Amino acid sequence: MDATFFMENQLLALDEAILKSVDQFGHAQPGQLKESMVYSLNTGGKRIRPMLLLATLKALNADIETGLNTAIALEYIHTYSLIHDDLPAMDNDDYRRGKPTNHKAFDEATAILAGDSLLTDAFALIATDSKIENTETKLKLIAELSKAAGSTGMIAGQIMDVESEGKQINLHSLQNIHKRKTGELIRYAIFAGGQIAEASSEVVALLDDFAWTYGIAYQIQNDLQEVMWTDQARGKLNHSDADLDKNTYPSIMGTNGALTALSDKIESCKSILNQIQAIQPAFDVELLAGFLKYLKI
Ligand code: IPE
Ligand code: IPE
Ligand code: MG
Ligand code: MG
Repeated sequence: MDATFFMENQLLALDEAILKSVDQFGHAQPGQLKESMVYSLNTGGKRIRPMLLLATLKALNADIETGLNTAIALEYIHTYSLIHDDLPAMDNDDYRRGKPTNHKAFDEATAILAGDSLLTDAFALIATDSKIENTETKLKLIAELSKAAGSTGMIAGQIMDVESEGKQINLHSLQNIHKRKTGELIRYAIFAGGQIAEASSEVVALLDDFAWTYGIAYQIQNDLQEVMWTDQARGKLNHSDADLDKNTYPSIMGTNGALTALSDKIESCKSILNQIQAIQPAFDVELLAGFLKYLKI
C-alpha cells in the first residue's frame, strides 16, 4: 500500500481520536490546561510517529485499531517534548509549525504544566486500553515507552543536546544525541507496532534496525531544515541551532556532508526493508518505504 494513501486515509480518524482522548477521564482539566494541551496537540504536526506505529501494524496485516491508543500516547509524549523543548530555558523558540509556541500562546507555567499533563496522561491511555487484551503486551508497551522517553532515552538526548551547546563534540557523540533525543520515540513507534502484531523475533530485529536508522536520518533532516529551508517552510522565525551554537550534522560536517550522511541513511533504510521482504514476503514493505519521503530535504 502507498504510504501517502494510508496517511491520508488515517489522518482524520487519528486527529479525531487524539482530540477525544483529552477527555479520557470524563471531567475537564481546570483553567487553561485543556486549551493549552489541545493547542499543541492540534497545530499541524505531521503525526509521523503514530502513523509509523499504525503503518507497521498494517504492514504486518494486523488490526490497526488495536494500536490506536498507543499511537495517541506516543503523540502525547512527542507533543510534550516539543512544548518543553521550545521553552526559553531550552531552545527558546517563539514559533513552531508557523504558530506561536505554547509558552508564547499561553505562558511558561501553563506550557510546562500542559507538557507534564501530556506526559503523565500518555501512560494512562495505554494502561486503560481495553483493545489490548494481552496484559503482558500492555505492560511491555508501557515499560518500553517509559524507557524510550525517560532519563536514559529521549530525555538523555535532550540533556546531552543542551550540555553540548557551544562545545566541540565528535560525530559519534552527535549520533548518540540524535539516537536518543529523536531516535527513541521513532524506534518505539515501530517497536510497538511489532509487539502488538506479535511479529516474529527475526522481523522485530530488522524493524528495529530500520527504526534506529530512520530516527537518525529524521534528525539529520531536521538539522538541515534550519540551514536550507525558508522560515515559512520551517514554520519558525529564529535559528535556535545557530543562536545556541548547537552541535548538528551541518555544523560538524557542513551542509554537503550532512546531505551525504542523510542519503546514506536512506539507502540503509531501503536495504533493511529489502531484507524484511526476503524473510517475510507477506510484509507490506511498500508501506514503510513510503515513509522515506518524509526524510527528503
Ligand atoms: C520535530 O519533530 C522534532 C524532532 C524530534 C525532529 P517533527 O518534525 O516530527 O514534529 P511535528 O510534530 O511534525 O511538528
Ligand atoms: C527536538 O529536537 C527533540 C525533542 C523535542 C525530543 P530539536 O530541538 O533539534 O528539534 P526542533 O528543531 O526544535 O524541531
Ligand atoms: Mg532541542
Ligand atoms: Mg528545538
